[in-house]
Amino acid sequence: MTLTNPPQPALEDLLDRARQAALHSYSPYSGFRVGAAIRLTNGSVVTGVNVENVSYGLTICAERSALVAAVSEFGPGIRIEAVAVANLNNAPSPPCGACRQMLAEFSLPDAPVVFPAADGLRTLAFSDLLPHGFDMKLK
Ligand code: THU
Repeated sequence: MTLTNPPQPALEDLLDRARQAALHSYSPYSGFRVGAAIRLTNGSVVTGVNVENVSYGLTICAERSALVAAVSEFGPGIRIEAVAVANLNNAPSPPCGACRQMLAEFSLPDAPVVFPAADGLRTLAFSDLLPHGFDMKLK
């Protein structure tokens, strides 16, 4: 497990991108403004925000929004080498379980994921964030 507080400088840049993205959050129902930034092994950074809906369950989180943007832009071969999550509410916001499972499909196991936790910024290797994700193996 890695736990750094504060994060390394490269992750600070990624966090800034996540904070900037959060300004675009569409969150009229919760008021919780989240941004995510994903750095890919091709060197690109792709961001996303939470987009809510009046049919609440249709809401998409910032992390999955960034992920679908990354696949849309660069295709199915992407690999994630780092993730940053930020919110504008000064609250903890670790990636939810659904987002962890979606990110798992494309993340390197040792990709750092930095997010606001109750005790400040926390950085975990992806494999520590989701140690037993579903992976379909038939036969
Ligand atoms: N949210 C995220 O964007 N990421 C998460 O990992 C958890 C929750 C959003 C969804 C919703 O718009 C708001 O935060 C409150 O749950």
